[in-house]
Amino acid sequence: MNPDQRIFIAGHNGMVGSACHRFLQNRGWTHIITASHDELDLCNAGETFAFLQNQKPAIVINAAARVGGIHANQSYPAEFLQSNLAIGLNLVEGSRRAGVKRLLNLGSTCIYPREAPQPIPEEALLTGPLESTNEGYAIAKIATLKLCQTYRQQYGLLYHSAMPTNLYGPGDNYHPENSHVLPALLRRFHEAAQKESPAVKVWGTGKAQREFLHVDDLAAAVFHLLHLEDPPDWVNIGTGKDCTIAELAKLIAATVGYSGKIEFDPSRPDGTPRKVCDIQKIKATGWSPKISLVDGLLQTYQNFRQSLQTNSLRK
Ligand SMILES: NC(=O)c1ccc[n+]([C@@H]2O[C@H](COP(=O)([O-])OP(=O)(O)OC[C@H]3O[C@@H](n4cnc5c(N)ncnc54)[C@H](OP(=O)(O)O)[C@@H]3O)[C@@H](O)[C@H]2O)c1
Repeated sequence: MNPDQRIFIAGHNGMVGSACHRFLQNRGWTHIITASHDELDLCNAGETFAFLQNQKPAIVINAAARVGGIHANQSYPAEFLQSNLAIGLNLVEGSRRAGVKRLLNLGSTCIYPREAPQPIPEEALLTGPLESTNEGYAIAKIATLKLCQTYRQQYGLLYHSAMPTNLYGPGDNYHPENSHVLPALLRRFHEAAQKESPAVKVWGTGKAQREFLHVDDLAAAVFHLLHLEDPPDWVNIGTGKDCTIAELAKLIAATVGYSGKIEFDPSRPDGTPRKVCDIQKIKATGWSPKISLVDGLLQTYQNFRQSLQTNSLRK
């Protein structure tokens, strides 16, 4: 891999895609190919094949996906399965047809069974039933992972996948209902601090344990993987460390300068008690996360405030 190669980042306007774009720009890459969703619908095979044929990238990163919370996944299960399957298939097959030798596909740890051992090892894939609330999304991600694995086997193309844990950072979605737990809490605590509210309610008991990785650490992992000559077919990317939602809420309160009470609402579901990934495999290749949760939250909060000021917050 070198900065003169043509590299296509599919989904470059999203949180992960924009972090990969920043990472490359900061390192002097000059041939970064992008197309917004309006310019190229990756669900459309003809458009995607033609785009890849015309652009002829040497490397493709798949950071495009139809992403949503539990509510969206449960309301539109057919659309989540169909569009993510189509994006994966069109990018992988389109890349093969265009002679792309290297492709890195982004998945998610939701591909692992609901009852997977904790920390979750890569070997847990396809060993049990999936979480039912986002089954379609997970099946599409598993199918794309398997496409990459089989294209590597059958065609000798270096197509492989990375499975990140919960991510946060610049470009996150702060929608009050549809966002993930960390951006949702950041926004709620920020608003409570502004209004000087006496208390903030946090869903669940606060005891569930989760892992959070800064998206800039993920971008570094993506490019680390792209430099490996023999990368794993799929590999977890995380911190390997978890914290309780109560600890996260306290950290966020401190980050935004909120000094009121934090109240938990046990009538709301906690979800799975613990979710953390085993990162021994990627660590053994020489990558490890650099951004602590405290520093990452501070930087993310600064970015959140800037986005509010410039009216560019995703919500
Ligand atoms: N965020 C996390 O915590 C997290 C954790 C683990 C894994 N991941 C994985 O990382 C990947 C990227 O996630 P993200 O958080 O960056 O999501 P995101 O911010 O929603 O970005 C996804 C991007 O894909 C684009 N896109 C969707 N459908 C498209 C289509 N048919 N054609 C062209 N572009 C399309 C979206 O454009 P529009 O918005 O214009 O539709 C958006 O720019 C996903 O595979 C996700 O599973 C994310």
